[in-house]
Amino acid sequence: MSDLLETIEETRQKALKAIEQASTPSELEQIRIEFLGTKGRMLELTRSLGTLPKELRPKAGQAANKAQNEITKAHREALVAVKKSEAIANRLDVTLPGRRPAVGHTHLLNQTLTEICQIFEHLGFSIVEGPEVETDYYNFEALNFPADHPSRDMQETLFVGDKLLLRTHTSPVQIRTMEKSPPPVWVVAPGKTYRRDDDVTHSPMFHQVEGLVVDKGITMSDLKGVLSAFAAHFFSPNTKIRLRPSFFPFTEPSAEVDIACVLCGGKGCRLCKSSGWLELLGSGMVDPALYDFVGYDPEKISGFAFGMGVDRAAMLKYGLSNIRHLYEGDLRFLRQF
Ligand code: DAH
Repeated sequence: MSDLLETIEETRQKALKAIEQASTPSELEQIRIEFLGTKGRMLELTRSLGTLPKELRPKAGQAANKAQNEITKAHREALVAVKKSEAIANRLDVTLPGRRPAVGHTHLLNQTLTEICQIFEHLGFSIVEGPEVETDYYNFEALNFPADHPSRDMQETLFVGDKLLLRTHTSPVQIRTMEKSPPPVWVVAPGKTYRRDDDVTHSPMFHQVEGLVVDKGITMSDLKGVLSAFAAHFFSPNTKIRLRPSFFPFTEPSAEVDIACVLCGGKGCRLCKSSGWLELLGSGMVDPALYDFVGYDPEKISGFAFGMGVDRAAMLKYGLSNIRHLYEGDLRFLRQF
């Protein structure tokens, strides 16, 4: 008899201690199964009452009942308390600082494109645009690239059909503009251009800004004046430029325009390969052959044109060594601008 009473007491104490130490609803559920469940210890004890002599059963029965009630009550109370503290822990804390969503900004290339266009707008130019899928006529023929002429090789063209291609430069917009409006013309044409080219300074898709001025009495000194003003605004006020003889089918004479090296200022360094100069764009006086295509009278007007690589201008201005930085979308790079 005293054995069973002792076991009841031990079980009671064990259960109450376990309940006291439990800190989660699942721990309490384990305890409930162990002590109060249908295969639990308390039911086992109640069953073993039957093995006692009749006269001893009431006392042991009472003890078992009392223990069962005590454990049940403690368990219920502990469950309420644990659930309450869990709810407090999970509660929304309105005093925590908020999480700011990342805010994007204009891509460096578009910033550069916009800046270039604004400088020319301040000089009196208007902005025009043309299609990226061009015809052979506008991309080559009307720009004085005869069919089968080797100068077409320079352009690494991506064709999309017979006589249809991705424009290799923004120069076709020169023809489209002159076709549409009589002189005077003072325009810049920004946009995407495409070539079969891919290395650290070339991307198959890149950006150019084309410039075209056709007016009465335009000379090469106008070209130099406009481009000097541009270099001073875009790079720094004292940036020098120089014109180097070159060849383009649509300009005569043609000139490559260099700026004094942005790194060494002209003394010679690694960036400018000790020359002191960096190539910026191609330019020249509009070849009168173009006027025949658009019905302008070369006796009455003259003009100059230039074509600048926007990616290149951004690389020079911000000292980028690899054009891919402009196309990979790496936030560590983009956030710096
Ligand atoms: N279209 C030429 C190119 O992409 C660049 C160029 C050179 C444009 C001279 C011009 C120019 O307007 O006058 O290679």
